[in-house]
Amino acid sequence: MGRSSMPDVGSYVDLLIHDDAETTELISALSINVTEFFRDDGAFEALSEKIIRPLLRSKRETGGILRIWSAGCATGQETYTIAICLNEEMRRANMPEDMVASITGTDISASALAFARKGDYSELQVKNVPAYLLKRYFIKNESSYEINDLLRKRVRFMKEDLMETPKSKFFDAIICRNVLIYFSRPSHDEVIENLHESLRSGGFLMLGRTEALMGRVRTSFEMIDPENRIFVKVS
Ligand SMILES: C[S@@+](CC[C@H](N)C(=O)[O-])C[C@H]1O[C@@H](n2cnc3c(N)ncnc32)[C@H](O)[C@@H]1O
Repeated sequence: MGRSSMPDVGSYVDLLIHDDAETTELISALSINVTEFFRDDGAFEALSEKIIRPLLRSKRETGGILRIWSAGCATGQETYTIAICLNEEMRRANMPEDMVASITGTDISASALAFARKGDYSELQVKNVPAYLLKRYFIKNESSYEINDLLRKRVRFMKEDLMETPKSKFFDAIICRNVLIYFSRPSHDEVIENLHESLRSGGFLMLGRTEALMGRVRTSFEMIDPENRIFVKVS
């Protein structure tokens, strides 16, 4: 309100109704975009072993595109970390790099998504990325590390509000970490229902380590890794 010189809440709400740019600014100011590459020790090993590996195995048998959704991806570090894990698992299994697999990163914050699309990170931001992976998936610039084409071609970013009807369905896995903690209980339940709808039967859901699965659809999930909050959607 101060920045836009609005005298009271009513005038500020009026401004929001008529000015999309102000709404975007407000969302950026309110959203907590804290994130990092390989956030939480061991979480991405679990992602590789318990989600990516079985999915690659079944896609190798049945064909089809492997589709992963990184929901609430902030500035992209989580999405690119998933892409690194996917690529490393494909190398491990001697699968061709051109195998069709896509990762969609979504967030409500337009400024966070712009950063994610740029894919250019400071030395401090890549501190958790092991040296051999930095070499394999980043281009070293003078004072930053840029995501290389191998990862870029697998990843796309889109603006999407998790409270709204999901735009895509039949994902093989949804990684939604450290997002639900910011929601009230009714909103949490709504988001979980949307994620449930977007996931194919037998697909995987991974939440953040401090997050719980609540609401009507929680019985449609079987927990397979309590520490890393990994669930499978049962039919
Ligand atoms: C703390 S970050 C988590 C980033 C990443 N998932 C991680 O664990 O490192 C939470 C993200 O959720 C996003 N977010 C909050 N509400 C949202 C909503 N309704 N729809 C989509 N994204 C939302 C925020 O903009 C923010 O970028």
